[in-house]
Amino acid sequence: MIEELLPPGVTSSEAFDDAAPAPLFPAEAALMEGRRARRRRQFATARACARRCLTQLGRNPVPLLPGPGGAPQWPSGVVGSITHCDGYRGAVAARSSSLAALGIDAEPSGPLPKGVLNLITSDEEREHLSDLASADPSVPWDRVFFSAKEAAYKAWYPATGIWLGFRDATLALSPEGTFSTTLRPPVPPPVDPVYEGRWLAGPDLVLTAVARPARADR
Ligand SMILES: CC(C)(COP(=O)(O)OP(=O)(O)OC[C@H]1O[C@@H](n2cnc3c(N)ncnc32)[C@H](O)[C@@H]1OP(=O)(O)O)[C@@H](O)C(=O)NCCC(=O)NCCS
Repeated sequence: MIEELLPPGVTSSEAFDDAAPAPLFPAEAALMEGRRARRRRQFATARACARRCLTQLGRNPVPLLPGPGGAPQWPSGVVGSITHCDGYRGAVAARSSSLAALGIDAEPSGPLPKGVLNLITSDEEREHLSDLASADPSVPWDRVFFSAKEAAYKAWYPATGIWLGFRDATLALSPEGTFSTTLRPPVPPPVDPVYEGRWLAGPDLVLTAVARPARADR
């Protein structure tokens, strides 16, 4: 599914359960010690997806340990992103010569839990979502919106190391399956703060992806 949202040159791999064996490197396994079984399985399957992406890029499968802020540390010359939620584990990767940043996010389809929307939107964004819902009530716009901000954050963070809250970004969704996010960090950003992405909403899952061309950050 995720490949529908990605430009050429991005490798992707996804799984919808943890059935396939997904061995971890010792350093990764050490990180999961004492964690709940569900988290260990999810982590391992997503790591297996990420390593398949590396193999498709012609790179060796290596441990992918989290760096500061939780972002996975991809090998030199590679950018990538990982996501997991109930019923989905996925990873994407590309050569950093072609893409400056990648961010993906998966969410279960359906409305956000009560109270969340107000925490992640401005008045203008809520009006935007209300207009979209009036035009097409079949799309879980709130969930797509939440996921798109997370995808943008995952593309932003590895390049900057700057944490942003949901109110530090303004997002506009297009019914055609694209979105544009403008990030407002507390200090002038070292990269272009506008992130463009794509979304899709199926019966069970919402997926979003940001793939920023390398030229955008030069
Ligand atoms: C980091 C965050 C985006 C993860 O999203 P999530 O929906 O909770 O979880 P997902 O399963 O989709 O993604 C988790 C994966 O994201 C990756 N990740 C975690 N922190 C990351 C970061 N700072 N940058 C990039 N990727 C990150 C990891 O690979 C993680 O999986 P792993 O721990 O198994 O390696 C979220 O927890 C968060 O902190 N959000 C607040 C910041 C934000 O989204 N702001 C929006 C405005 S820009």
